[in-house]
Amino acid sequence: MLTYQTLTDKVNAAIADIQFPKEPQGLYEPISYIMSFGGKRIRPVFMLLAAQLFNKDPERFMDAAVSLEIFHNYTLLHDDLMDNADFRRGKPTVHKRWDANTAILSGDAMFILSCKKMYNAVNENCPEAMTEFLKTQLEVIEGQQYDMNFETRMDVSLEEYFEMIRLKTGVLISSALKIGALLGGASKDEAELLYQYGAQIGKAFQVQDDYLDTFGDVKVFGKNIGGDIMEGKKTFLLISALKKANATQKLQMIDWLEKKDCEPLDKIDFITKMYIELGIPDDYNACMKDCYAKADNYLAKLHVPEDSKNELKVFADKLSYRNN
Ligand code: IPE
Ligand code: IPE
Ligand code: MG
Ligand code: MG
Ligand code: MG
Repeated sequence: MLTYQTLTDKVNAAIADIQFPKEPQGLYEPISYIMSFGGKRIRPVFMLLAAQLFNKDPERFMDAAVSLEIFHNYTLLHDDLMDNADFRRGKPTVHKRWDANTAILSGDAMFILSCKKMYNAVNENCPEAMTEFLKTQLEVIEGQQYDMNFETRMDVSLEEYFEMIRLKTGVLISSALKIGALLGGASKDEAELLYQYGAQIGKAFQVQDDYLDTFGDVKVFGKNIGGDIMEGKKTFLLISALKKANATQKLQMIDWLEKKDCEPLDKIDFITKMYIELGIPDDYNACMKDCYAKADNYLAKLHVPEDSKNELKVFADKLSYRNN
């Protein structure tokens, strides 16, 4: 059994080995840039951990795993442009270091490169994996559209929010596990259980990303703190706060959120204090606990030796304590 750390190292080594074309430099240099500096690599690692439950040699599926990471990084290029984000993984985002057109076009190229890599890796042996990947890619983009639609609304429900994050974030984690299982030789039912397990981990992962966007440490998180508040994002924190607030608090929050020309730090500070006053960190902890309990139930139903599930559990637990 390979540990999640060994698999992460192997994914990083495989990514470092990718030979992107050299020309046009303006297209490929930003791709090497975003792919080269860190990232937790959770999607390929989940994929390989799932494959390992059914197959002793998960490394043979490395190309498919890397393809998931290229797709994820493509979404980051476009996401940072859409979210006006200046920093990612502690470095300037591609549209800041280059420009918006670069983020669009390099992102487009990465999207095609990810499809090509997955196609070459899985098509003959496991066409279901390719179908799953294509379905998921479209869902992520649908999720991103809901995320943007919600920016201008103040009445987004938690239910709508959970569906939005299922799409923009959850499905890629679910699919990584399902594709890994399918490639590893799992039955359809087993692959589906891992998909459902991933949906809970993915939900927790995005809720936690929302939490860290307000309560994280910029040096560790690698992204600007308060970005979601400034962009009017309907996060788990904001929706829970609007729901719990009394009429006065709600009016004050909406008033601050709608201010266009205030000092960003003042807005972030007000909303953050309101989150604390309303006890939102407790709601966050309860949500995380609920997702992880449900995830455990799905994993318990999977008929593979209990000790083989351990590495997956260790990895998922470690993620729940992450601060980046
Ligand atoms: C960031 O994903 C985008 C979200 C879905 C929250 P990650 O937190 O996996 O980012 P990296 O790849 O580790 O930088
Ligand atoms: C990201 O959501 C979802 C995708 C990139 C598809 P966020 O916008 O919250 O991700 P970060 O916080 O910028 O990484
Ligand atoms: Mg973003
Ligand atoms: Mg976003
Ligand atoms: Mg975020």
